[in-house]
Amino acid sequence: MFVYLLLLTVIVTVEAQRVQGQQTSDSCLCKINSSIWTFPVFRFEEVTRQVQICEDNLSEFEEKMRNTNAELPIMEATLQNISACLKAFGYLHTNGLYSALHLRQLNQELEEIHQTVNETHMQNPNNETHNLLTELNKAKNDVQKMYRDDFFNLETMKKRLRDLNNRAQNCKTMPNDFRSTCHQRTMTRISPPVVTKLNSISDSYISGAWGRDALLSSIERYWEHCLVSDHKHGNTIRMYNSLEDFMANNYYTEEEIASSYSDENAVQGSGTILYDNTVFYQCYDTAEICSFNITTQETKRVQLVGAGIDNKFPFCYYSCRDWTDIDLEADQNAVWVIYATEENRGNIVVSRLDPLSLNITHTWKTHLFKRSVTSTFMVCGVLYATRFVNTYQEEVFYAFDTATGQEINTLSLPFEKVSAGIANLNYNPVDGKLYLYNDAYLLAYDTFF
Ligand SMILES: *[C@@H]1O[C@H](CO)[C@@H](O)[C@H](O)[C@H]1NC(C)=O
Ligand SMILES: *[C@@H]1O[C@H](CO)[C@@H](O)[C@H](O)[C@H]1NC(C)=O
Ligand SMILES: *[C@@H]1O[C@H](CO)[C@@H](O)[C@H](O)[C@H]1NC(C)=O
Ligand SMILES: *[C@@H]1O[C@H](CO)[C@@H](O)[C@H](O)[C@H]1NC(C)=O
Ligand SMILES: *[C@@H]1O[C@H](CO)[C@@H](O)[C@H](O)[C@H]1NC(C)=O
Ligand SMILES: *[C@@H]1O[C@H](CO)[C@@H](O)[C@H](O)[C@H]1NC(C)=O
Ligand SMILES: *[C@@H]1O[C@H](CO)[C@@H](O)[C@H](O)[C@H]1NC(C)=O
Repeated sequence: MFVYLLLLTVIVTVEAQRVQGQQTSDSCLCKINSSIWTFPVFRFEEVTRQVQICEDNLSEFEEKMRNTNAELPIMEATLQNISACLKAFGYLHTNGLYSALHLRQLNQELEEIHQTVNETHMQNPNNETHNLLTELNKAKNDVQKMYRDDFFNLETMKKRLRDLNNRAQNCKTMPNDFRSTCHQRTMTRISPPVVTKLNSISDSYISGAWGRDALLSSIERYWEHCLVSDHKHGNTIRMYNSLEDFMANNYYTEEEIASSYSDENAVQGSGTILYDNTVFYQCYDTAEICSFNITTQETKRVQLVGAGIDNKFPFCYYSCRDWTDIDLEADQNAVWVIYATEENRGNIVVSRLDPLSLNITHTWKTHLFKRSVTSTFMVCGVLYATRFVNTYQEEVFYAFDTATGQEINTLSLPFEKVSAGIANLNYNPVDGKLYLYNDAYLLAYDTFF
């Protein structure tokens, strides 16, 4: 990635600053003033303009090739020259920075949002749905204009669509008590650890998750889930009926989620949560969510469209944590899934699941790059994100309220760890505690609002 970025910057810089370069066999080396290592929108547009030229040349050339009978080797050389010009943008392409910005895709997304709002408007017309429909029509006109004039500010348009989408999600029906019980409250403080314990199996199990059943009406039940097989897969969950049993490693039951850790219903990654005696997790090697109801022993699955898996968008910040692409959370009303998509440029996407049907009911898109955080959790429909401060300290620095679409970038809620790495962090609405899987250690904290 570093190499591609360099290439990109050099090309962009040539455009802007005329940097002296030195041609070697297959690359160009230059000394650059580090202040240009930023990536503002107008430069990005210049890059996309260049890509357009390359693509035009390519199709022009293909056209020529069909109509001439020039010698093949010459043609191949020319084609290679043109292709080389496109190669530099491979980084943009594979990272979804370019492809996601195609106008056609914009239009499609616009249609989807329009449909959502239209449906909501038909069921329950109000000022917000009315305003949204007006704005969507305006946005549609603007996209048409982009087609016509071949000039567009993709970044601005993408941002506008994201905001419209989030507002459309908020219009969609939610359980009545969702907003009234708990929105517009932001966490203010996290206590020192109130529980610290090595996981009950082994200090070599550095990845997994633990916590307490998150359904408000559930009986007190603690769970512990460790990943085996290179900290990637798992198939059992250990259940305790009290915190005392958990602390003493006593009287637990070992529940089997799948018959082996390589079964298609096995767990992948450390994003697991327990809600209503049901384990929610990423299904083995796919971009799907599984739920395993321990009571009925039934497994359900649902696809998570576009979700990056297999360490495409893990939690990183300081150093990337493998197999953290998909993070399940639970709060008062629902199960939530936190992931990232190319379409949202690697930024965090939050979806709300109906726990019983496992249907995805809502999807919000944030501006927060998933690789720039170490973990996330949900409280009352508010997404919180943490970052690494040092080995022994972590900090909540960001919140996104799904009820308002508002992002808060100014939080600073530090809390202690005993080790650098975070495999899982989840909030429990029953006792208001945060549960942390901190390398092989299991910690819990009280929270204050
Ligand atoms: C780098 O560029 C910035 C602005 O273009 C300029 O202010 C700064 O002095 C330059 N630094 C060096 C070391 O040339
Ligand atoms: C691409 O086309 C432009 C004009 O459309 C031309 O100036 C440029 O030299 C072409 N580049 C290549 C690599 O053929
Ligand atoms: C391809 O590029 C090289 C170096 O820039 C140049 O020497 C060569 O003539 C080009 N070949 C064609 C067929 O355009
Ligand atoms: C909105 O939805 C209604 C009913 O589903 C449909 O008849 C109408 O054509 C839709 N309007 C637009 C602009 O899509
Ligand atoms: C909705 O719009 C009407 C008329 O434009 C206005 O009178 C009313 O106060 C608005 N309601 C809300 C909740 O904003
Ligand atoms: C799990 O099964 C029990 C027993 O049928 C049921 O009461 C509960 O609602 C189920 N929970 C989920 C999340 O499927
Ligand atoms: C869940 O989704 C399926 C298929 O999309 C649909 O048939 C079903 O009615 C949905 N269930 C609920 C409870 O929304």
